[in-house]
Amino acid sequence: MTETTRASWGSKLGVMLAAAGSAVGLGNLWRFPFCTAQNGGGSFLVIYLLCSFTIGLTLVFAEAALGMKVKSDPTDAFGWIHPKLKFIGGLCVFTSMIILPYYSLVGGWILAYVVKIFSMSSATDFGTAFSDFAASPVEPLIFFYVYLVGSAVVVYFGIQNGIEKFSKIMMPILFILLLVLTGRVLMLDRAWEGVKFFFRPDFSKLTGETLMNAMGQVFFSVSVGMGIYITYGSYVKDDTVTVSQLMRPVIVLDVLVSLLAGLMIFPAVFSFNVPVNAGPSLIFITLPQIFVSIPFGRFFGFLFFVILLGAAATSSISLFEVAVTFMCDQMKMTRQKAVVGFSAVCLFVGTFVSLSFGKLSGFKIGGKILFDQFDFLASNILLPLGGLLTCIAVGWILKSGRLIVFKNGIMQKGFEICIKWIAPVFIVLILLKGLELI
Ligand code: PHE
Repeated sequence: MTETTRASWGSKLGVMLAAAGSAVGLGNLWRFPFCTAQNGGGSFLVIYLLCSFTIGLTLVFAEAALGMKVKSDPTDAFGWIHPKLKFIGGLCVFTSMIILPYYSLVGGWILAYVVKIFSMSSATDFGTAFSDFAASPVEPLIFFYVYLVGSAVVVYFGIQNGIEKFSKIMMPILFILLLVLTGRVLMLDRAWEGVKFFFRPDFSKLTGETLMNAMGQVFFSVSVGMGIYITYGSYVKDDTVTVSQLMRPVIVLDVLVSLLAGLMIFPAVFSFNVPVNAGPSLIFITLPQIFVSIPFGRFFGFLFFVILLGAAATSSISLFEVAVTFMCDQMKMTRQKAVVGFSAVCLFVGTFVSLSFGKLSGFKIGGKILFDQFDFLASNILLPLGGLLTCIAVGWILKSGRLIVFKNGIMQKGFEICIKWIAPVFIVLILLKGLELI
């Protein structure tokens, strides 16, 4: 697509909020708490923070800079570095095809709980209610379809009228609601126990697997390693703005929301003495249990699931946009056709992922049901691989100085050291350790 006809963002704030909207999502509010709980609390948090500000930050800047420079989809962006690298763009689209179906399935569960929370009472067996719901062959699928089609509609309306408008409305509401809810939870009895669990590191719990999970969490939560910021950066028209100005808030907000999520969920869980390591079902079992037993709890529960829904939606649309931009730029499809086509693929794949909790629960790959396998493959393998290839392409194959991230020379040098050495070395070491190869 030529630059004159290419769509663009309406304002700087719009790009920032859309990019932050991609980062902030279920990764922070759903995945981060249960991963932290399963991986030893505070020590996981330390590794997560370390990886966020090294690997995460570097990759957000590198991707956005590439997109803003080349103004096309990830295939062209990597092709600009070297024609043989175009395949990395294909990997990005493949990764979005793996993440979007299961991400939207969780989005559908959340949509269901926005409604369900009102019909729950303290007599409900929350664990059974959730597993029966997730395993049912029809109900979760309906919510999944509605959620996915809803996200598709936003993308259908395009960059300025769809994604930018939606992010500008959703993101501020999200932060306000999150602050209100965290404040409420911190007032519960014994909330302090949860805060201690969240912040106290226990390094004896750190294994290769924990390290890999922490890095995977960063890739997933920051949305790096699959060309999202290349894609969003490609729609930035204003060439006077620097990458660091636009993208700095992304990582800061992402880490902040994860911290707020921890400060909301762990105090609640400890205060009510419910099991902290319930895995992906943590927020669907433990939290409703708490919400039905505090004054105005159902209202707060409703708020909580609405926050999740908003956060999830701004991330899903970014997953969509990678594939849609690819289909428009490389396959010369119209945006509308691309949205319909990609939705159909994800609805199909997601149906099997949903059934992996019920009818297909016996079908396992490497001991994991389809849902867990998709999540593992995406976060721990595909995204780090995409990130590593980005580091190699930008840090080693591209001539230094061709991608300007900072106006300040020292900061720019720092970025070049990070993309060439720090980020790739961390990724390789953690991958090798996690896969028990070292
Ligand atoms: N970062 C999003 C979240 O935290 C999830 C996501 C992952 C979105 C990868 C896009 C790409 O929920």
